[in-house]
Amino acid sequence: MRIVVGITGGIAAYKAPELVRLLKKQGHEVRCAATAHALEFTTRATLETVSGAPLYSDLFASGGTEHISLKDWGELLVVAPATANIIGKVASGIADDALSTLLLAFSHKLVIMAPAMNSDMWAHPAVQRNIETLRGWGIRLVGPAEGELACGTSGTGRMAEPETIAEAVNSLFLIPHSPLGRWLVTAGPTYEKIDSVRFIGNYSSGKMGFALAEALAEAGAEVELVTGPTHLNATHQRINVHRVESAREMYAAATGLFPQCNGAILSAAVADYRPAEQADHKLKKQGDQGMTLTLVQNPDILATLGTMKQPGQRLVGFALETDNELQNAEGKLKRKNLDYIVMNSLREAGAGFGVDTNKVTILGADGSRMESPLMSKQEVARMIVSTVAP
Ligand code: C5P
Repeated sequence: MRIVVGITGGIAAYKAPELVRLLKKQGHEVRCAATAHALEFTTRATLETVSGAPLYSDLFASGGTEHISLKDWGELLVVAPATANIIGKVASGIADDALSTLLLAFSHKLVIMAPAMNSDMWAHPAVQRNIETLRGWGIRLVGPAEGELACGTSGTGRMAEPETIAEAVNSLFLIPHSPLGRWLVTAGPTYEKIDSVRFIGNYSSGKMGFALAEALAEAGAEVELVTGPTHLNATHQRINVHRVESAREMYAAATGLFPQCNGAILSAAVADYRPAEQADHKLKKQGDQGMTLTLVQNPDILATLGTMKQPGQRLVGFALETDNELQNAEGKLKRKNLDYIVMNSLREAGAGFGVDTNKVTILGADGSRMESPLMSKQEVARMIVSTVAP
């Protein structure tokens, strides 16, 4: 595995060379990227010696495109330690130095962060909100651990030990116990913000997607479930839930997770459009006049995964059609480079949004076609999994 270790300016940066050493010992190729503050706690010479490669710390040192070549080279970016500052920057999309720029460029790839800070900083609502944002995007967190802190107090905020971080890296690449491997599922609606209190949404309950995640987990898969707002909870311990709100957040999470998955079933009811402008305050009524909302198109997650798909990966979409159902679903199957498309018909009583039952037709790129009877969503999910997963 080709790993970039990113180091930011916390006292735990002195442990970063040990992490690099452990990862190299385990057979990984490692390059380092550090912020200027990190180099107050560890040195360029140390990092270059343990990694055996030049350190990336200056955005413009080799023409300003190093973040892209390092992004193309790396398969995984591990940020250890990750300060409140870098966590906040990534959550807000700020790229103002070498490492933060690399982190944004890594948005379609695997990222692990090991936060380290004072326990009051860790508890700050801004940090907790940012952490939730990163988790929603599929960034994995290791720690922080509880214990003595550099400031003389103790609490939650210590960086996980290099051994623990190295274990987290390796467990990512463990072949799961079943031949199904790891699967991505999207579920639920998306909410597209109009202002601070209103949104555009839809009636999707998330039940079909959660049932698919449970069916995959029961069949032995590790499941990454990216869900829009819903009251449902996953019960199986092999389901890793990533909660997001908007289509763009779902896009970021799904594209980040897909490269590590053997397959994906996208059942979320993603809003095709979002308001062009999203007010951060409550919009006021304007006299007796009406109001016009301008909508812009959201990214198509399924079509994007279709372009990212590698040989051996399976991609399954859903289609909710009202007319010319078969023809439209077949068109989508080809256009979006899918292996299967699961067709729901709104004409069927007991099928579709909100209800506990469903009736579907599964079309395969190989020309196969299978119709289910009207069954519970759990039974439909098991039938879909047994058809689309190898
Ligand atoms: O093209 P259409 O929206 O009918 O396709 C439905 C399928 O595409 C579903 O699997 C849905 O989860 C997925 N989709 C998506 N991103 C969008 C719109 C739909 O992943 N922006």
